[in-house]
Amino acid sequence: MDPGLDQSHARYEAILAEVEAPFAFVDLDAMGANAAAMLERAAGKPIRVASKSLRCRALLERVLRSDERFRGLMTFTLPETLWLAEQGFEDLLLAYPTADRGALGELALRSVANPAGAPIVMVDCGEHLDAIESVLGAGAAPVRVCIDIDASWWALGGRIKVGPKRSPVHTVKQAVALAQEIERRPQLDLAALMAYEGQIAGVGDRPPGRRLRGAAIRWMQRRSAAELAERRAAIVAAIRELTELEIVNGGGTGSLELTAVEGPVTELTAGSGFYAPALFDHYSRFSLTPAAGFALPVVRKPAPGVATALGGGYLASGSGDAGRLPAPWLPPGLKLDPAEGAGEVQTPLLGPPATRLSIGDRVYFRHAKAGELCERFDLLHLVEGDEIVDIVPTYRGEGRAFL
Ligand SMILES: Cc1ncc(COP(=O)(O)O)c(C=O)c1O
Repeated sequence: MDPGLDQSHARYEAILAEVEAPFAFVDLDAMGANAAAMLERAAGKPIRVASKSLRCRALLERVLRSDERFRGLMTFTLPETLWLAEQGFEDLLLAYPTADRGALGELALRSVANPAGAPIVMVDCGEHLDAIESVLGAGAAPVRVCIDIDASWWALGGRIKVGPKRSPVHTVKQAVALAQEIERRPQLDLAALMAYEGQIAGVGDRPPGRRLRGAAIRWMQRRSAAELAERRAAIVAAIRELTELEIVNGGGTGSLELTAVEGPVTELTAGSGFYAPALFDHYSRFSLTPAAGFALPVVRKPAPGVATALGGGYLASGSGDAGRLPAPWLPPGLKLDPAEGAGEVQTPLLGPPATRLSIGDRVYFRHAKAGELCERFDLLHLVEGDEIVDIVPTYRGEGRAFL
């Protein structure tokens, strides 16, 4: 958290007075403070920037330019990756497997033109390898691939599994078997390993009002981090016996300091921490400064203690619990109505400030997640100091909706 930054309703209203609500904005001073804090937590290792958590080309460029330790992008679909490559972005690692044969064909062409600089794609099974090979002509250059290692934590002999359900490759033996399968295929080149510990990086260990749950999360995360450090090191060592690995990627905004200390990890990933959305408010290891928000106009006063804003139902993906709702931010003290939440066209707001709000006033919210905000707005107003310094399109504003 940057204590020197004035994040009052009055300040943002003064800066953004001329912008018609609804609008979205990014506070560059807050984003800069978050970037610096993440670099510090990464303890000297480079950070690959997760494009899904920014979804704005101009801001991706700005972050990459801001420090040489922000290096390369972690992308989320192959069409997105190819589009970014066309725009001049380099060092792209696609973090999720693809079944898009058309896009794989295009990737194959890129790999011919620039074998060492073409995007790296994610695989976790033989079918992924088959799909890539099926689009390659006889003389094609090798396509670089990355094995996704399951980073989830298994307890009670595998009867309890904690973590995202992604890759089936969990053990050293499974990882070596897939690496050998890749090595047998001359048109594929194993360049990287990735293991994302979502149960640590993406789960706040200080959930508000739930002390026991917080203690249980911290206990699980300590054990999971220790188990993963050992398993990841063993997998990397075993695969390095077979081939050179350019990249061993791990971590996310919520785990930078824990993943950074693992020797075999060559780089970390972070994205959400730049915008610092509401789900990242509840970690004991770090605190970030809210850097992205959206403003809605008050359009109704249905009762004395209620102010109703236009729109606002921008729910975040995931488990579907209340933490996925947007968080009323400014003026402080506003709350969603539990009976209505955030609505498709209208969001009633309760709490003491609602009484003072009039029609035409604007209220500010934060999204629960980071990049998904950009799927709701064409433009981001960039605020720095006391002014709007730029207005830039989101992916959506460029007519690009990848997911
Ligand atoms: C593979 C992978 N790495 C890293 C991250 C971390 O991203 P962020 O820093 O935006 O939480 C994610 C997020 O889901 C991910 O899927």
